Amino acid sequence: MRDQLLAAEKVKAIEWRDGTLYLLDQRVLPFEQTWLAYHTAEGVAEAIRTMVVRGAPAIGIAAAYGLVLGVFERYAQGGHWQMALEEDFDLLVNARPTAVNLFWALNRMRERLYRIKEGDDPRPAMEAEAAAIHLSDREANLTMAQLGVDLIRKHQGNLQTVLTHCNAGALATGGFGTALGVIRAAYIEGMIERVYADETRPWLQGSRLTAWELANEGIPVTVTVDSAAAHLMKTKGLTWVIVGADRITANGDVANKIGTYQLAVAAMHHGVRFMVVAPSSTIDLNLATGEDIPLEERDGSEILNVGGQRLGAEVDAFNPVFDVTPADLIDAIVTEKGIVERPDTAKIAQLMCRKRLH
Ligand code: MRU
Repeated sequence: MRDQLLAAEKVKAIEWRDGTLYLLDQRVLPFEQTWLAYHTAEGVAEAIRTMVVRGAPAIGIAAAYGLVLGVFERYAQGGHWQMALEEDFDLLVNARPTAVNLFWALNRMRERLYRIKEGDDPRPAMEAEAAAIHLSDREANLTMAQLGVDLIRKHQGNLQTVLTHCNAGALATGGFGTALGVIRAAYIEGMIERVYADETRPWLQGSRLTAWELANEGIPVTVTVDSAAAHLMKTKGLTWVIVGADRITANGDVANKIGTYQLAVAAMHHGVRFMVVAPSSTIDLNLATGEDIPLEERDGSEILNVGGQRLGAEVDAFNPVFDVTPADLIDAIVTEKGIVERPDTAKIAQLMCRKRLH
């Protein structure tokens, strides 16, 4: 399975080469494949804020490399460079509020910095730490892909028709994807008949990114409007909804792209299973429930304008970009440490005590 996934890998969104961070500009996909080069932490923070790079694990990885760029610049300036680096840290940490992977990665980078001996050159260690975060996310996705397939098999071994939301693919991660990693692996195993991808208004991560990733690999994909989901569940024999996550709280509540919550409600009504796939870096044990998660709201103009063209009336628009799915609507959370079925606080605590499976 691992070798087949590696062989099928076609898409990546983040590359670190010779002290420069390259990001595939996800705002213009699938029409243009443009790589943008970043040399400063400030530039990377702006890339995260403006969605050049998006998806919870991917913004964590980009921020880690962003901090490396900050170290390169500040260390070369000498003096109290660690104090100046705090400005870069603040810019990166405030780039987007919901995905905890951003804070997880930046805190891990800061802890590594604190362990460097006074007078030692911090650059090699910091570069290596960011690369390790990148690599371990990719590895976690390979493990989760296998676990997700095992879970599907355990419940229904026959051909699956699945629905996914937003983009939880290679573009959103260090490689392969979380939800799309499971879907890719299930396809390789001959278990996928069709994938329905919600278009995911207003940024269209589903129709632009997920559909593009799957079509590139010949995986049968059909795009629908977000509001078709309940109808699909009723008429198309869906077996699973499979999504990623931006933050999972101690009790198993899940923040993910706006529209995920209504999918879970509809799935429960129709007896469709609901799987969340996310690395343990997405789990935030500091927050008791989803009520505590800061949910990003973006400008209303993102709803009223399409492709730079005004299509809505001249009114206010409310644009929350994430929502919270309560744990009791979730059949399983798949992580690289293992699977939690019917999540609750005790099961999540137990999971987080385990080592990674790979
Ligand atoms: O606003 P985005 O595109 O960053 O939102 C991304 C999502 O909601 C994804 O589903 C989530 O980050 C999981 S990505 C593996």
